[in-house]
Amino acid sequence: MTLLEYETAARERLSGPVWDFLEGGSGTESMVLAGRAALDRIQLRPRVLVDVSTCDSRCSLLGTQLMAPVGIAPMAYHQLAHPEGEVATARAAGEAGALLTVSMFASRTLEDIAAAATGPLWLQLYWLRQRDLLAGLIRRAEDAGYQALVLTVDAPRVAHRPRDARNGFAVPAGIRAVNVSPSVMSASHGGQAGESAIARHSKEQFDPSITWEDLAWIRERTRLPLVLKGVLTGEDANLAVRYGIDGLVVSNHGGRQLDFAQPAADALPEIAEAVAGRCQLILDGAIRHGADIAKALCLGADAVFIGRPALWGLAHSGTSGVSAVLQVLLDEFAEVMALMGVARVQDFKSSGIVHR
Ligand SMILES: Cc1cc2nc3c(=O)[nH]c(=O)nc-3n(C[C@H](O)[C@H](O)[C@H](O)COP(=O)(O)O)c2cc1C
Repeated sequence: MTLLEYETAARERLSGPVWDFLEGGSGTESMVLAGRAALDRIQLRPRVLVDVSTCDSRCSLLGTQLMAPVGIAPMAYHQLAHPEGEVATARAAGEAGALLTVSMFASRTLEDIAAAATGPLWLQLYWLRQRDLLAGLIRRAEDAGYQALVLTVDAPRVAHRPRDARNGFAVPAGIRAVNVSPSVMSASHGGQAGESAIARHSKEQFDPSITWEDLAWIRERTRLPLVLKGVLTGEDANLAVRYGIDGLVVSNHGGRQLDFAQPAADALPEIAEAVAGRCQLILDGAIRHGADIAKALCLGADAVFIGRPALWGLAHSGTSGVSAVLQVLLDEFAEVMALMGVARVQDFKSSGIVHR
């Protein structure tokens, strides 16, 4: 099955409102399409008569060793897709040698996920008003062996997502963000027609006042590498380097935050130029084929994250579904490497692509 066939299969298995929450975007949903269109505009330029008898897709991302430059993006509430939730996803990621970034709004505990994982884990944080809660999560992540922290910076609040508002979407009673105290999460539950509980919760609990200066607060509390997720300009990439950030996820949140933004793939070259190797770069959004990984690397990324496709696999058949999705991507990527005449991931260069 291709990734898009997993999408169809997942749709058949999930309720309408859950499907809309997973698939939907913000505003006019223009960014969901734009993210894909940006990758589709890029064409590969293969080289021939290169020895590709052994292609090596392994790489190191902030000291984390991976079988290929692929990770799973942080996504809240994997139990919406499958009862085993993040535990099933972690098993599959480990089997594939891929990274899993666990959302602070995971539906399984950080410790249960770590116990099931056989591969590397990172933890993603939103900046909540209650800082002691973040400090507690950072400590727990370190104790459980998580290898980096990802602070999402494109969401001072969750954007208006019309499908969720129309559905009055709320996190179902049996599913909870178990790593955060129930009182802080209560606004995420209990639907109300015309309003998304997810958006309501973010307005109540996210701290929209944080600035670059606040990053020191996290730095003082951890030695783990710190990654910012949701950077889309060279200016902010420069600031990130100046503030000692170790990595950036160039992302428009899968089209779920700022509508009418520049697609992440289009923003990546300016960011790669700005950081000039001073911090590592990950691209996410609309990665649906192994060739997209090659395109991202040619644009200047060190790795990619996939979002929704992991949840499609999870909804299809738990661990084995996520494993299959990752395997499809990795097999496609291996073939693209061989046919492009690229034997090592670090050999992807900007000359490997052209914009249509
Ligand atoms: C259902 C869902 C939940 C998400 N939850 C989070 C989250 O908790 N934290 C975060 O930083 N990003 C979250 N994201 C955004 C993803 O990390 C990622 O940026 C995006 O899904 C990548 O695009 P793709 O789905 O097209 O691959 C979520 C995305 C989806 C689809």
